[in-house]
Amino acid sequence: MCGIVGYIGYRDAWPVVIKGLKRLEYRGYDSAGIAIINDDGFNVYKKAGKVSFLEDFATDKNTTGKIAIGHTRWATHGAPSDKNSHPHSSNDNRLHIIHNGIIENYCVLKEELISRGHNFKSETDTEVLIHLIEEIQNIEKIDLLEAVRQALKSVIGAYAIVILDRENPDQLIAARKGSPMVIGVGESEYFIASDITPIVEYIRNVIYLKDNEIALMTRDEFLIKRLDNVIQTPMIQELELKLENLEKGDFDHFMLKEIFEQPRSIRDCMRGRINPEAGKVALGGIKEYAEKLKNIERIIIIGCGTSWHAGLTGEYLIEEYARVPVEVEYASEFRYRNPIISEKDVVIAISQSGETADTMAAIEIAKEKGATIFGVCNVVGSSIPRITDAGVYTHAGPEIGVASTKAFTAQVTVLTLIAFYIAQQKGTLATSRLIGLLTELDNIPEKIQAVLANNDLIRDIALSIKDASNCLFLGRGNGFPVALEGALKLKEISYVHAEGYPAAEMKHGPIALIDKEMPVIFIATKNSSYEKVISNIQEVLARKGIVIAIVTKGDTQVKKMVDYCIEIPDADEAFLPLLATIPLQLLAYHIAVLRGCNVDQPRNLAKSVTVE
Ligand code: G6P
Repeated sequence: MCGIVGYIGYRDAWPVVIKGLKRLEYRGYDSAGIAIINDDGFNVYKKAGKVSFLEDFATDKNTTGKIAIGHTRWATHGAPSDKNSHPHSSNDNRLHIIHNGIIENYCVLKEELISRGHNFKSETDTEVLIHLIEEIQNIEKIDLLEAVRQALKSVIGAYAIVILDRENPDQLIAARKGSPMVIGVGESEYFIASDITPIVEYIRNVIYLKDNEIALMTRDEFLIKRLDNVIQTPMIQELELKLENLEKGDFDHFMLKEIFEQPRSIRDCMRGRINPEAGKVALGGIKEYAEKLKNIERIIIIGCGTSWHAGLTGEYLIEEYARVPVEVEYASEFRYRNPIISEKDVVIAISQSGETADTMAAIEIAKEKGATIFGVCNVVGSSIPRITDAGVYTHAGPEIGVASTKAFTAQVTVLTLIAFYIAQQKGTLATSRLIGLLTELDNIPEKIQAVLANNDLIRDIALSIKDASNCLFLGRGNGFPVALEGALKLKEISYVHAEGYPAAEMKHGPIALIDKEMPVIFIATKNSSYEKVISNIQEVLARKGIVIAIVTKGDTQVKKMVDYCIEIPDADEAFLPLLATIPLQLLAYHIAVLRGCNVDQPRNLAKSVTVE
């Protein structure tokens, strides 16, 4: 969703901010803008569409200056347009603001401000906030930092903001509540951003601003205050991320790069956590809860989108190996339905970004009811790891493609580890069995490498079905979440309507859709439901559907029946989601590329959904 970049220092601010906004493009947005201060005062450029439009628009304009703020906007209040793009200005144009999040009480505030003579140029909630700050400063005759502090106390909602003041062209003010914000600290320079991607090529030292904190930055002063006016000691952390993690390298798209990174990302995710020889799993992030897990009676998993699919694989794994009942809920539903939950429960919140608004709200509700909350997140230092009791990072590295690939398989890997860890505490798996499973898990990265070798074949299959308007993905057992995830990937990036279904449910509805135009993708590997899936394949073939089957290497039975087969190496059923997902990611990718879609930044989608 929206992205923020701010700079104050000795460099030319324009290229820093433009480049930063480009690095944030992956979050999803529909307009962009920059305000820069130089001897002429403010120069503000705003454009609907891509950052490159903004860049082209400003080529012959004044973009000099050593202090600037820039923003990519994902429209909520008001359509994507030049006038609704950020930065927004105060009534007298002295102040400019960029904002991520939503000011929920903006209507009331706006009416009050209009009644006192304010004029608004946009439909946004953000503009209301900067007018409010301006008014407080004018009435109270106080400095900007204090005016921002007072204004934020009367705001309901979520925000990460940065403010530039024409009268103080050597100062940036930033604040956050519920929306991420990080400050890069250099020698006489500061970078502000909604995540570290715009900062990483300049700076190793960062401060993650916390909720209810306001930061004031000048070239010689740095101060953090809380909304209650207490001064804070900034905690500087060193970045581990490297610039090459944010570049495409030799790949055409980030998504393809990230699909191909999975052998490594899964290895990183398991590193130091499994000991196959001893049959032991160690999860340092939740070890304090080992005793609780030993006696746990119920686990609730919450997440959105792909993370919810990972949760479904977790349900299968935890119930199968640890014998604990699991419920998997969409965070957006859970938060509004007065869930029955108690201090005896463990809630696992899954989120690659660690910032998803619905998941965060669901966590707060579970917390209020006394449950223990674990986070499973990819972005280190994001909000969810901070508000949960404990957790396990997925360590997949930055994921830039909006459609989640390596973050999903890392989530599944963590859930596999959690299932085995609980099984270990409860004694539901014999050590000999655990040794076998962990030895196999340790080999999964090599097996994924073998699946990736099918890339050309999968591209050929994509070529033959790329013009389909609908696709059905079917699987049983833990092949069902894989089918859901395969369908989601395809619809997200290629805009082909796709549905995932449990294979046996097909006859209760989707079978009506099947004709000779309809590709049906089956997860048909050799496992406990193999024979049943073969019957479902027959049902599709009888209706002339086009069948693509993911099969176990060496399969002959399915191969004889269907139009296309993609082989994956044999593995224990526990690891089916990790292997069978890969060809579906590649299939979605190639179909989207062949249809000419913007794979890394699909329309209307955002990487990190910070509004509900
Ligand atoms: C967005 C992304 C999806 C993601 C979902 C949940 O919709 O486009 O890829 O699965 O949010 O995000 P989270 O960061 O909580 O996993």
